[in-house]
Amino acid sequence: MFNWFKKKDTEPTGIPVVIDMHSHLLPGLDDGVTSFEESEMIIRQFQELGYSKLITTPHIISDTYRNTPDLILGKLKELNEYLAARQVNIIVQAAAEYYLDEVLFKKVENNEPLLTLGSRYVLFEMNFLTEPFQLKDFIFLLGVKGYRPLLAHPERYLFLQQDMDKVEDLYNRGVLLQVNTVSLTGYYSKSAQHLAQKLIDKGWVHFLGSDCHSMHHMDLLKQVRNNRYFHKALELPLLNNTL
Ligand SMILES: [Fe+2]
Repeated sequence: MFNWFKKKDTEPTGIPVVIDMHSHLLPGLDDGVTSFEESEMIIRQFQELGYSKLITTPHIISDTYRNTPDLILGKLKELNEYLAARQVNIIVQAAAEYYLDEVLFKKVENNEPLLTLGSRYVLFEMNFLTEPFQLKDFIFLLGVKGYRPLLAHPERYLFLQQDMDKVEDLYNRGVLLQVNTVSLTGYYSKSAQHLAQKLIDKGWVHFLGSDCHSMHHMDLLKQVRNNRYFHKALELPLLNNTL
């Protein structure tokens, strides 16, 4: 049968994402970029891809990257001055990617200020292999404190790859889910790619993020623009552009 109007796999659909909300572009704060030059190069590429705003999210991990809001916002100011001096006109803001451990739990319990995105979304990551024992309590605690939990790259956690019911449970508890677009290339693993695809099929994706750490990630980000699932994700009511 003729189907003159059938879209090609690579044809853009949906509303383009113009705000990226997960990356590591503040030099020296974590395992992301190591210099302002590298940051500028990557940011210029984001601009070329049509992004108008980047919310960069350095890791905060109590035993590795002890970043504080002051440190992050200070480095952000330096980066923005660097970019302005080079006529790079794009909005760059900062939040953080919090690692779930006892220290973070206490921080929230004690009402220490957190760096959040949009409507008090707290971007967090956790152990990749096994479910943290305090995960459900943490989700509840964030709610009590007026925050909204936003889980970074659910597709990358082994214990979620092996158990879709656990993913559904998080979704039902109101956890917002952010898929890394480069997961769709199979960059992390086949299992991560499959879970990312499944999440898109189910419509359980609230945000797409680059999780860009380096120029290598940026190259992958460009490739993903021809990916069928990337275009399928753009059909979802993503929250990126509300930030
Ligand atoms: Fe990240």
